[in-house]
Amino acid sequence: MTFPLEPPFDPPFGAASDDRGDLAPVEQPEDRSIESELRPSSLSEFVGQERLRENLAVFIQAARDRNEAVDHLLFTGPPGLGKTALAFIVSQEMGAAMHVTSGPILERSGDLAALLSNLEQGDVLFIDEIHRLNPTVEEILYPAMEDFKLDLLIGQGPTARSLRLDLPRFTVIGATTRAGLLSAPLRDRFGYSARLDYYSAEELSRIVSRAAGIFGIDVNLDAALEVAGRSRGTPRIANRLLRRVRDFAQVEGGVDTCVTQETACFALERLDVDEAGFDKLDRLLLLAILQKFQGGPVGLETLAASLGEDKGTVEDLVEPFLIQRGFLDRTPRGRVATQLARDHFGIPSNPNR
Ligand SMILES: Nc1ncnc2c1ncn2[C@@H]1O[C@H](COP(=O)(O)OP(=O)(O)OP(=O)(O)O)[C@@H](O)[C@H]1O
Ligand SMILES: [Mg+2]
Repeated sequence: MTFPLEPPFDPPFGAASDDRGDLAPVEQPEDRSIESELRPSSLSEFVGQERLRENLAVFIQAARDRNEAVDHLLFTGPPGLGKTALAFIVSQEMGAAMHVTSGPILERSGDLAALLSNLEQGDVLFIDEIHRLNPTVEEILYPAMEDFKLDLLIGQGPTARSLRLDLPRFTVIGATTRAGLLSAPLRDRFGYSARLDYYSAEELSRIVSRAAGIFGIDVNLDAALEVAGRSRGTPRIANRLLRRVRDFAQVEGGVDTCVTQETACFALERLDVDEAGFDKLDRLLLLAILQKFQGGPVGLETLAASLGEDKGTVEDLVEPFLIQRGFLDRTPRGRVATQLARDHFGIPSNPNR
């Protein structure tokens, strides 16, 4: 018996998710040091998310006037929209120290207990990926958030006894891309929770211009808008595309050259990022629905398999942007490509529907 040497899907499908390169919304290793350089340090430098910004300004002012810690805050929303940036801003504006940890790092309850017992009055404890907290760690967090108490178990076996320690008033800021996975009791312990939305092109162009200023590059307004329009509503992507565009501009015209719309378009085309901000995977996904599955509905598993992609990658990293921009619908019977998607690819409507 012989086995096929090739995977059983068409060669053009199967673009790996790491192929997303410049359009990956999640943080890449090269982003890390640059992101801290670009991180806004005050609410006034943070662009967009108006309602959230206004509310945070009120909470911060009120807490400062009362000389108290801000109530616990939860930031949810897709990667790269500014959840971590906002946590830094809140601690900065409160003049508080920020302790950074994350759900997967806190493996045992002792890890969290150690962090909590080091907190001082008013400190911020930032827990990234809070939906990935181990349940036994979460148990420690409940009384800490609600009553500012830390329950410790001293000793083992029959001589073990529990000890309840007082903690100073502090603020937990939780961040998650998967709000739906948060347990109800944990969610209820936050005084305020906010979902960050994708940014408009105008807002992103302000973010691009600000980053250009920090990098010391001359980018005209049209070029900033061009980069913004292709950045999938995401500041992290806008900042990354700006860095790539700068590379092209510099090689073409020298270090001091002004980035124009023309250079930006040229660079973005070379990076395979189209006018809608779609990359190869977006195009493959929409074209698979339109051409292989007659526009849908098609189930997530079937769709992901036809792309040679992991279901979670499709659901978390590809679909949210396509849905938000109206190219894709999630229906109870499966995924459906919209008329907008047909128009984008110039594919006529299915006459059988
Ligand atoms: N509104 C904004 N104004 C200016 N810069 C922003 C804004 N939002 C995000 N940024 C910048 O975009 C980058 C990504 O933001 P951040 O790391 O806060 O995203 P995140 O929501 O925490 O993402 P993840 O879910 O991957 O942790 C950072 O460099 C940040 O400074
Ligand atoms: Mg973050």
